[in-house]
Amino acid sequence: MDKIQNIALSALKKLPLDLNRKGNNMWLSNGMYLVRCLICLWAVPAIFGAELASGPFVAKPYLQLGRMPADPTYMDVVWHSADAEAVWTVETRSPGGAWSKGVNPTYRRIGVPTIEPHRVYRAEVKHLAPGKTFEYRVLRDGQPLFSSTGTARKAAGQPYRLGIFGDIAADKDPQKKVAYQLSKAKPDAVMVMGDIVYSRGRITEYRHHFFDCYNGEVASPETGAPLTRSILFIGAPGNHDTATTDLEKFPDAQAYFYYWSQPLNGPTIAPAGANAAKITGPPANIQALKDSAGEQFPRMANFSFDYGNAHWTILDSNPFVDWSDVELREWLKNDLASAKDATWRFIGFHHPGFNSAIKHQEEKQMRKVADLFEEYKVDVVFSGHVHNYQRSFPVKWETKTSMWTLDKKFDGASQTRPNGVIYIVTGAGGAGVYNPEQQDYPDTWSKFTDKFVSKVNSFSQVDVDGRRFEFRQISDTGTVVDHFVITK
Ligand SMILES: [Fe+2]
Repeated sequence: MDKIQNIALSALKKLPLDLNRKGNNMWLSNGMYLVRCLICLWAVPAIFGAELASGPFVAKPYLQLGRMPADPTYMDVVWHSADAEAVWTVETRSPGGAWSKGVNPTYRRIGVPTIEPHRVYRAEVKHLAPGKTFEYRVLRDGQPLFSSTGTARKAAGQPYRLGIFGDIAADKDPQKKVAYQLSKAKPDAVMVMGDIVYSRGRITEYRHHFFDCYNGEVASPETGAPLTRSILFIGAPGNHDTATTDLEKFPDAQAYFYYWSQPLNGPTIAPAGANAAKITGPPANIQALKDSAGEQFPRMANFSFDYGNAHWTILDSNPFVDWSDVELREWLKNDLASAKDATWRFIGFHHPGFNSAIKHQEEKQMRKVADLFEEYKVDVVFSGHVHNYQRSFPVKWETKTSMWTLDKKFDGASQTRPNGVIYIVTGAGGAGVYNPEQQDYPDTWSKFTDKFVSKVNSFSQVDVDGRRFEFRQISDTGTVVDHFVITK
C-alpha cells in the first residue's frame, strides 16, 4: 500500500495546478486534479488487490531445523503466503555456482478465526555442505521473488558459534538492540529459550513483534536485523507461547505450532491428555487449531537434535507438564542415553529450575529432572522466563532432600572442568529486565548463583571448538558482562 501511495503522491506533485483560469473555473479545474489524485491514492491498490499491498509473502522466508534431527546437510526453508494456488519452488547453490533443481514445498493452510487464511510453506532443502554458506532463492510460477544466503548446520568436527536468548519479541526497544548485537556476533545458529512472542503467542504478535524485528531488511539498534532468513533459529515453547489456551478470546493463539518447523521426535502427547495445555473454546476453534497445526500440535513442544558435536534436548517446562511423569522421564533418559557419544550435551527449556531473582521464585518444577541431567552428564542447561542473566556454580542436586552440592573450585578461567551441571538463565533477550536492584547485592542471591546481571538486556554467545566451550554474555550495547570457559 505504501509503495503505491508513494508513486501516486509523486504523480500528484508532477501534476501542474491550473492557475491560469479565473474564479470558479480555476477551482473546478484544480478540483478535477484532486479527484484524480484521490483515485491514484486509494483506488489503484484496490484494483490490483492485496498482494500489491503486502507483496507475495505474508512472512518472508526463514530457515528452520525441519524434521531431520541429526543431518547437517538438511534444512527447511519456510515462508507464509496468501491462500492462493501457485507453483512454488526453492533453489540452492554454492556461492556463485549453478542453481540446483528446484525443491517443491508442502504447505499447511492456517485457517483460524479472526485471521485471513494463509499458507505456511515448508521446503526441505537437502545435500547442503555442512557448515558452509549457501545461497537460496524462492520462486513462484518460475519467477524468483526472494533470495538470501544461509549457513548450513555444522557437522561434528566443525567449530561453531551459537546465540542463545529468551523472552524476546515483546515489542520493546531492547529487543531490537539485542537483535542488532546478535547480528554483529554472526552466530551460526540461534536458540530461543521460550517466550518467543508476547504476550499470548498469537499470529498477530508474530507479525508485529517477531518477523519485523528478526527478519526485516535493515540491521540497526532501532529496527533489529535480518537474521532468520540466513541463520537457523530454534525455538523452545514458553508460557507466553503456548499457555494461552482460551481460543474463544484468542483464536489465533498457539502460533508456535503453526510457524516453527522442528523435529517431531519428542514424547507422544495427546492434545487433551496429561502433559498438554488444556485448550478451551468453541469446538470449531479447537478444530481449526488442530487442522492448521497438523502433526506439530502438540508434539513439537519437546524434541532433540544434534548441532556440531553437541546433542540438544528441548523440553516443554510449562507447569501443565509433569516431569515426574514416568513416560516423560523415560523418554528423556533414552534421549540422553542415545547422545552418550556426543562431546557436549545441552538442555534448553523456558522455566529455570535454579533462579535467584525475586521474580518467579514459585516455579522450580524443572528440578524434577535435574537428577537425569547429572546422571547423563549434561554440561549446561539454558533457560529464560526470568528477564535477566544468571550463571550458577556447577550444581549437583539431591531431589529427595532438596539439597545441592556446589563446585566452587570451578571459576571458568584457571579451573575449567566443572563438577556438576551449570545452569544459565538468559531471559534478558528483549523484554523489560527483572529485579535490577539485586545485581549489586549478592546477599539476595541463592547460594547456587555465581553471576547475576539484571541491569541490562543481553544474550549468550557460545563458541564451541572440539572439547572447549567458551561463553560470553553480551549486553544490548555490545559489552561482555560475563565470560567463562569449560574444557573436557
Ligand atoms: Fe516466561
